Amino acid sequence: MTILGLETSCDETAAAVVQDGMKVLSSVIATSSDMHIKTGGIIPENAARRQIESIIPVIQKALKDSFPKTSSLESQIRHIDAIAVTYGPGLIGSLLVGAETAKTLSCIWDKPLIPVNHLVAHIYANWIDTKPPTLPAIALVVSGGHTDMVLMKGHGKLKWIGGTRDDAAGECFDKCARLLELPYPGGPSISKEADNFFQSPKSEVQNLNMFPRPMMHTKDFDFSFSGLKTSVYNYLQTEHKKVSRDKLAAEIQEAIADVLVKKSIDALKLINPKSFLLSGGVAANVRLREKLQLEVAKLEKKVDLRIPSPKYCTDNGVVIGSCAYFNKIITPWQKISADPQLEIV
Ligand code: KG4
Ligand code: ZN
Repeated sequence: MTILGLETSCDETAAAVVQDGMKVLSSVIATSSDMHIKTGGIIPENAARRQIESIIPVIQKALKDSFPKTSSLESQIRHIDAIAVTYGPGLIGSLLVGAETAKTLSCIWDKPLIPVNHLVAHIYANWIDTKPPTLPAIALVVSGGHTDMVLMKGHGKLKWIGGTRDDAAGECFDKCARLLELPYPGGPSISKEADNFFQSPKSEVQNLNMFPRPMMHTKDFDFSFSGLKTSVYNYLQTEHKKVSRDKLAAEIQEAIADVLVKKSIDALKLINPKSFLLSGGVAANVRLREKLQLEVAKLEKKVDLRIPSPKYCTDNGVVIGSCAYFNKIITPWQKISADPQLEIV
């Protein structure tokens, strides 16, 4: 089954063609991050306007890339069995562009339409170009707006076991980057700055303990990152310039990664699933990936740790097409509407 997956929940406009949920025929992503760099963060109306400009060219390119020997649009469309689209959560203006485009195409091309939860879709990065993970699994979704841990017993069988009580991990990266006057998006900027620190001869990873690890030792699987942001803010107000910016970036990254890894290991010890699935934009963070690998390797009971390729961690259409294949919730277009507050379960 060949699915055209569309993703427009935030500042990326993405389309991909995916075969049987795991094979990528094409993936095209346009981003409006150039605009958000200038404003230091996303202005939702600007992101939505750019979605409108990008959506048709992005879909056209995804179809062309998938079927290069097929010159006409009509014959490219004939290869598509269904259309999948993110309907939430996200920014309402951005979501509407994808959802309404998908509904229109489904109607005029006469193709089944599959609405996709963006957060669940992130987990499916672990099904792309690889052998499927064995279930049950614990999945940790760490994105710009969400931090959720779920137990996945099967496709469509998710149980929420924990999540952030305030800011998401990605949001913490983004807000701390702003405090350090590093460009948007904050995660990659902090990571790059931290790398500068690690490359300097004086750097000692062991001594990165300036900032708190909120809720790291609580017995639940909840997270809290707003206090970490506040302590970075307070530090900068009082102790400005004592510590270099690259060290501060490394400190912030270490604190976020420590909490995410500790809670993941605690959940693995308690629940004993067959696999652990990392996903979401923050999963592209090299230090988090390294630390998680190190700690999982120390576990007595072996677990299949899956960490997707960075290009499938951040927003893309591939995971939308994959999630739709494994959860074929074909829905009449009249019943689909964008839901900015949608939760993972
Ligand atoms: O999943 P995603 O692309 O979009 C949402 O669904 O939110 O995640 C975006 C988030 C942003 O907060 C961004 O700063 C963060 O992922 N991010 C990273 C890295 N790449 C993206 N955070 C840390 N390290 C990275 N390399
Ligand atoms: Zn996302």
